[in-house]
Amino acid sequence: MTVCEYRPGLEGIPATQSSISFVDGQRGVLEYRGMPIEELAEQSTFIETAYLLIWGELPTKDELDSFEHEIRHHRRLKYRIRDMMKCFPEGGHPMDALQACAAALGLFYSRRALDDPAYIRAAVVRLLAKIPTIVAAFQLMRKGNDPIQPRDDLDYSANLLYMLTETEPDPFAAHVFDVCLTLHAEHTINASTFSAMVTASTLTDPYAVVASAVGTLAGPLHGGANEEVILMLEDIGSVENVRPYVEDCVEHKKKIMGFGHRVYKVKDPRATILQKLAEQLFEKYGEDDKYYDIAREMEHVVNEKLGHKGICANVDFYSGLVYRKLGIPTDLFTPVFAISRTAGWLAHWKEQLAENRIFRPTQIYTGTHSIPYVSIHER
Ligand code: SDX
Repeated sequence: MTVCEYRPGLEGIPATQSSISFVDGQRGVLEYRGMPIEELAEQSTFIETAYLLIWGELPTKDELDSFEHEIRHHRRLKYRIRDMMKCFPEGGHPMDALQACAAALGLFYSRRALDDPAYIRAAVVRLLAKIPTIVAAFQLMRKGNDPIQPRDDLDYSANLLYMLTETEPDPFAAHVFDVCLTLHAEHTINASTFSAMVTASTLTDPYAVVASAVGTLAGPLHGGANEEVILMLEDIGSVENVRPYVEDCVEHKKKIMGFGHRVYKVKDPRATILQKLAEQLFEKYGEDDKYYDIAREMEHVVNEKLGHKGICANVDFYSGLVYRKLGIPTDLFTPVFAISRTAGWLAHWKEQLAENRIFRPTQIYTGTHSIPYVSIHER
């Protein structure tokens, strides 16, 4: 067996073989099951895209109707999950609440029949259906309110916005939100998907797999960046402050949130689509704050200062501006990312099970050997 050289962060090291998605970081290409993300964003829906990712092909109308029907009717939570949330501190981060509840789902569906296609489908439906309800329930309960029940007459994205904002969204807002979910659904072997795969490879239950992935996505270098971007734009406060801010980051080698990517060395194609969605929302509903102008100036200055290093806007740079305009609180941006990426995590869970081998990499040992134990009295 050839032993590869050690690469920090496993940069460039294949961890699996997969046919779920493809990224070309030099050309800014992203495909789900071979389909360009631009076409899926334009013509598909999140639920149809989730089906494509998980089962490998676009559903027929009957298959899609059946999938959507099952998801609509599994959105509700066990009352014990809601009771558990009542004990969560209202100041806790929604990603921690989501991770706790995702793991807790496993308490109710503990039968592990990973070789049973019906079990696999049930787990896929339950997680896609219930993760949004968990996020929305914590949002209302941390304000001291009762969670509102999902509305079976609303489609996936409209229902999610309704549960989050307690207001039925207009069709355009629901459509924009649905495109955002499609854009965030899958992205090859990113950190949270890798967590999902490693957890899946031990043959634990899918609820533990998603809980692992949620915990990984929460970090500011990964899914947590979308929240950090808005906080950064608020901190900068004006277009005039952008250049000094970026120059300070460059001088002190501080990471600028929403920029850079392990794979993309050009602008993330999702950022391009999200930027257009933000512009559409501002055109339709009015641009009531200066943050888009600050963001555009930010992208201009970062391209000037760091573009030569392949550091460009990534998916997290414009997504927060879209979510803000849709009325979603800043600390729910990453949970929304998790709701969407549950589709990708489940696709990789299913693919991992098909040809499983437990992940157990090796190391380059840098410690010492044969050191004698010293009693505490002699130290
Ligand atoms: C996501 O992997 C995925 O696919 C993730 C994702 C998905 O869909 O799942 O696309 C979602 O997580 C997007 C990324 C969100 N994170 C951020 O926006 C946080 C800011 N970005 C950086 O932390 C960073 O760019 C990473 C973590 C995204 C990638 O880091 P790498 O590949 O490990 O790069 P690195 O830290 O080794 O940096 C290489 C060089 C360094 O400079 P030098 O020491 O070589 O001179 O680039 C610089 C870094 O200082 N650099 C940045 C920078 N990102 C890299 N400098 C300033 N600002 C940045 N954002």
